[in-house]
Amino acid sequence: MRHLAADRLARAKALVALYPQPRSALIPLCHLAQEQDGWLRPEAMSEIAELVGVTAAEVQGTATFYDMLHTEPVGTYVVSVCTNIACLLGGAQELLEHAESALGLRAGGTTPDGVFTLEESECLADCDRTPCVQVNHRYVGAQSAESFDRLLGDLRAGKLSDTVPAHGTLVRVQRTVGLVADRAAVAAERGAMAEAQAAQAARAPAPAGGGA
Ligand code: FES
Repeated sequence: MRHLAADRLARAKALVALYPQPRSALIPLCHLAQEQDGWLRPEAMSEIAELVGVTAAEVQGTATFYDMLHTEPVGTYVVSVCTNIACLLGGAQELLEHAESALGLRAGGTTPDGVFTLEESECLADCDRTPCVQVNHRYVGAQSAESFDRLLGDLRAGKLSDTVPAHGTLVRVQRTVGLVADRAAVAAERGAMAEAQAAQAARAPAPAGGGA
């Protein structure tokens, strides 16, 4: 039984067709499924595996490697507070503790209403505006305790829906072209590469002490 909605399934098939190897679409398809559900459900991973020709375990292995892919439910808004060195010097620890208090949870947790997940993050690459905060991977600028409270209120009230889309939405513009490769050219390049590697291996000296 299909888990992806019909339009997403069509999009998934179109994405797979963009790549010379179906498995190259694995991560784009993970994002597609995450857009639908907010996280990667096991049934979604199974369907992705089928679409790209790998095992469900391989999809899970890939998904668990990347922070931006979630294999457990998260809140509508994932609030990331950077506590790396520049932000730490800029008051990140105090902000994180304030966030935990304001949301009534510890970093890594989700509010009971499923609206917010708070996470402590490594450097978010915006070190000149500290302490740095992202919501659903969108920068929301340096935050004080007061501005953080306002931010939570605005998110709850839906005032930021234009700038902070629902969790899982990474891009607003869908790719329609690109990465289309000439499969015959790719196969020829791979063949030439394999021949070159075989020739190199044949020229390599035998390992020392390998003979009697
Ligand atoms: S140290 Fe926080 S964004 Fe770089």
